[in-house]
Order: sequence, then C-alpha cells, then structure tokens
Amino acid sequence: MKNIKIKIDNIEVIVPEGTTILEAAKKVNINIPHLCYHPDQAIKANCRLCVVDVSGSRKLTAACSSFVYEGMEVHTNTKKVRDMQKGILELILANHDQDCLKCLRNGNCELQALCQRFNISKTNLVDTVDALPLDDTNPSLIRDSAKCVKCNRCVDACQKVQEVHVLTHSHRSVHYNITPAYEMPLEQTFCVFCGQCAAVCPVGAIVEKDDTAKVWDAIYDPKKHVIVQVAPAVRVALGDAFNLPKGTIVTGKMVAALRRLGFDKIFDTNFTADLTIMEEGNELIQRLTKGGTLPMITSCSPGWINFIEGRYDHLLAHLSSCKSPQQMFGALSKSYYPEMAGMDPKNVYTVSIMPCTAKKYEAQRPEMMTNGVAEVDAVLTTRELARMIQSAGIDFVALEEDQFDNPFGIGTGAGAIFGATGGVMEAALRTAYEVITGKGLPSLNFTEVRGLSGIKESIVLIDDMELKVAVAHGLGNAKILLKQIEKGESPYAFIEIMACPGGCIGGGGQPIKSTRDVKEKRIEAIYKIDEDLPLRKSHKNPDILKLYDNYLGEPLGHKSHQLLHTHYHSRGMKYNFSELPNHK
Ligand code: SF4
Ligand code: SF4
Ligand code: SF4
Ligand code: FES
Repeated sequence: MKNIKIKIDNIEVIVPEGTTILEAAKKVNINIPHLCYHPDQAIKANCRLCVVDVSGSRKLTAACSSFVYEGMEVHTNTKKVRDMQKGILELILANHDQDCLKCLRNGNCELQALCQRFNISKTNLVDTVDALPLDDTNPSLIRDSAKCVKCNRCVDACQKVQEVHVLTHSHRSVHYNITPAYEMPLEQTFCVFCGQCAAVCPVGAIVEKDDTAKVWDAIYDPKKHVIVQVAPAVRVALGDAFNLPKGTIVTGKMVAALRRLGFDKIFDTNFTADLTIMEEGNELIQRLTKGGTLPMITSCSPGWINFIEGRYDHLLAHLSSCKSPQQMFGALSKSYYPEMAGMDPKNVYTVSIMPCTAKKYEAQRPEMMTNGVAEVDAVLTTRELARMIQSAGIDFVALEEDQFDNPFGIGTGAGAIFGATGGVMEAALRTAYEVITGKGLPSLNFTEVRGLSGIKESIVLIDDMELKVAVAHGLGNAKILLKQIEKGESPYAFIEIMACPGGCIGGGGQPIKSTRDVKEKRIEAIYKIDEDLPLRKSHKNPDILKLYDNYLGEPLGHKSHQLLHTHYHSRGMKYNFSELPNHK
C-alpha cells in the first residue's frame, strides 16, 4: 500500500493511504477530541467533535471520516477549531443530565474528560433535556437516556456485532433519540443483556445495574457466611481499573483484595469450569456414541441462552443441558458446601464476580434454585468489584498475592481458558479425546479454535472418528452457524457459542475499554495462565475427582443431573421479571 506524508500541527507523519486524519494524529500522540468514533466500529461522523483545520479548505473537516492525502497540512488546535469544539460540547451539555457524582461512569467518562480538557463545567445554553423515563426494570442494565450523547456506538454494537437489533434511532431533528423500538423498556424487547452496548458507550447512558450495596450489606451481616467465586476472565482484566498494563494477570492480588473486603471464603469459578467439562464432555460423548441431537452447542454464556430461548427456540434440543460454571458453583454452594461445613444453606450468601451483565439475569432465573434457595445471591461485574476495592481504600497494586480457598480453589488450565473464545471447545476436546481413546493427547493446544476470527473450525481425529467442531463469538457470528443447522447443513458435531466478541474476556461487564487490541492482550494472558499451570485437563483436577467420589457419584449421574443440569425453554418475546423469585 502507498504511503502518504502529511503534517499535523507541523509534525511530519507518514501513514498508509486510507488512514483517517484522526488515526494519523494518534500516531504522533495527538488526541483529537471525539465521541462517536470507536476504533472497532464503522465511521459514523455524527458528533462533529473531531473537527480540524485543513490548509486550503474553507470549512472545518471531521478528522474521523476524512482520509489523508499527500502534502495535507492539518491544524488541530486553532482558535476556530477549539471554539467549534467548545460550542459542540456546550450543546451536548445543554441536553445532558450532568450528575457526575451519582453517575457510574464518573472518572471514566469520555464526555467528562472532554469537558475537563476544555474547561467547561456548565453551559449558559437553555437546558433542553427531554429524556425518556429511566429504564431500570431488568436485572442487568440501566438505560438513562438523559445522559445519552446520541453517538450511535450502542446501535452499532447491538445491530452490526450482535445483530439483535434492539437499539435503534427514533424521531428526527431536536427529538432525535436512541432507543429500543417503540421506546419500549429493554425487558419488553429481545435484548439478551449482553451489555455490549454498555461496553462501547462513551458516557453513563447504559450501565450495569449496580449490586455492590447488596453485597456490602451481606458482608456486614454477622448471620451470613459470605462466599465469592471469580470467573476466569476477571483476573486478566481487573488490573485495567488500577492502571496496570492491559492483560496483566492479577489473580493473587484479586484474591487478596476480596479477603480484605471481608468475604469469608474466596473460591475459583475455574473449578466449576472443570466440572462443566466433566458434565458437558460426557454429554457430548453420550450423544456421539449413543445417539442424541447433534451438533451439541455449549450453554455457559447466558446472553447466548437468552438469544436462543428468545429467537431460535426451535433449536433448543441442540443445547447442552449443563448449567453454566457460575450456576454449577451456586448449586454446590447451597448443597455440598453447607453439608460439608455443617451449615444451613440459607445462611450461605453466594456472590459471583463475572465479566458479564447477562449473568445477573441468569442468577435470578427461577430454575436456578437448590435446596429452596437461590444458587447465587448476587452477581457483580468486574467493574463493580473494582469500585468496591476503590471504595474500601485498598491499594490494589501494592497488595501481597493470596490464594483461593478449598474445596473449590483448584482450577486447571482447561478451566482457565473458558475465559477466551474457543476455550470451552479446547477444554472439552482435551477431556473428550482422552476419555474416549484412553490415550494421552499428543498436543494439548488446539490452536485452530483460538483467536479473534469470527468463526473458527477444526477437525479432530478421535481414534477412527472425525469430529468436526466450530466456535463462534458474538451473536452475529452465532447466527451463521444456527442458519446452517436450520437448513440441515451443519457439518459439525460440537459448537461453542459465546455471546460476547472475544468470549468472556470481552464481556459487557469488563473494565472499559475492551477494544480489539485490549482483547488480544487478555487472550494472551489467559493462555499464559493455562501454559503455566501444572494441571491442564479438567479430568485430572484432583478436587473434581474427589467431589465425584465423595458426593456426586459420576458425571451425568442422578445427583449431577439434579444439581448441575437444567432445562432451557422458549420464552417468547418477553421476559417477566416480576415473576423472578429473587428479583428486587
Ligand atoms: S455521563 Fe459523564 S458527564 Fe454525564 S453525568 Fe455521567 S460522568 Fe458526568
Ligand atoms: S444488552 Fe446487548 S442485546 Fe441488549 S440492547 Fe445492549 S447490545 Fe443490544
Ligand atoms: S446510549 Fe451511549 S452509546 Fe448509545 S448513543 Fe447514547 S451515548 Fe452513544
Ligand atoms: S468523532 Fe468524528 S464526528 Fe464524531
């Protein structure tokens, strides 16, 4: 590709043809103000904050949508440019409920940062906030249209990446708005609560439902034994909230912080990820050898479950009946754990730390009850955990590393890679191969199913059986595989689907921003954890084997079915949150 030489603020920069001014400026560390631009999305060019002065042009130019040309001279800081940018910011503020102290994005808000940069704290323009009522009726997300800057990033995520088409544009001119169709609350739409809209929103207009107060109350309640589980993807992202380099593995510090917060026991969801492989791997083997619906599809991503139950319910027989690792942990925490410890399950309060906003809904499903109590009492996203640590005044970076507690503290590398797209598939193959053949795997790494390509496939030879498998992440990609199944043309025996792009490392509850380069670093870290562990196969986890010996019996046995499996079902168009037993 041809290289182009231009000058930005008199600094020479050489970039490939087809680069925008905004991207070229980044190369020489000039950050042109922007709101609608997102590095992983198509150009929208609707906020006009990125205007710059291009020599020879009478009008100001939008840097995010204008491409460089040879000899171009760009000025990003002239009076005309700054006055225009300040004017646009004031217009945005006039239509913005600026309530930073109560806002979850306070301190990590692109609008707030721009206002600080331009020294704007209020506007003299007439307040024109004309918002829809706050939408907080679902367990996962809050939409506050009074804070929306109408950048369209969420529409892009919902329509082009997830292809769920919940969020859209409504009205025109001054009444232009971003809403679900017919301005319905999310619970009355096909929203799957993936939170990908929240992950790209530059401001506090779509945020996770904050459950930290509930968890603090439980910790302070002397009658409650409060235990916590942490999902595989949290430990490679939590460090972002404390300014550590992207992809830093913070497992030990995270455990130490949870202990400081006052949890009674700190457990690892990697343990129940291993348990999921024992159940799901055996379910696959059973379907392959004794007959059953194929391809079998994984069931650990609750956004994906919401999607299939809502839109592809005629394919539900393809789903594994396994609960997710979160819920398997929850079930054990209200059965095996209190029995072992001689406690009443009602006194055990189980908290999950998840990278996912849909997990908040999953935990409240009526099916997810064991011994008459909810399996998981509260779900916090990675962002909420970071806020708890910050609010407790803990110096996270300085913490000495700590270790998970037993009996749910040992996870193998197979459990760890659940956090990345392709990880569940790879973990299942490691176990299925060895259980079926009785031989050790020649190589543990199934690299064809790793990485950020939208759909990945592989053929695995298990004795004389050729097993064709596929992995999709992001619901738009999942749809392609589902359409093949609908037409009877799916060549696969086993499919992994994760609702979020990149898998859980790119979950809707992870620290913002989760751009593609950040996802790559988190994936690298996940595989590093796997490589460094002495145990890398779920069926070799000694505590899992002990659990089967002492309590569950065998995979797919009676007790396992009772505790670790469920029925997914068609739910038509709507959720009905008022019927959820645990909904407050
Ligand atoms: S969205 Fe940003 S500017 Fe608006 S209230 Fe929240 S933190 Fe403040
Ligand atoms: S949570 Fe997911 S499905 Fe729901 S509006 Fe956001 S992007 Fe769309
Ligand atoms: S909700 Fe957020 S991402 Fe969506 S248009 Fe409004 S500000 Fe942009
Ligand atoms: S960032 Fe360029 S128009 Fe919005």
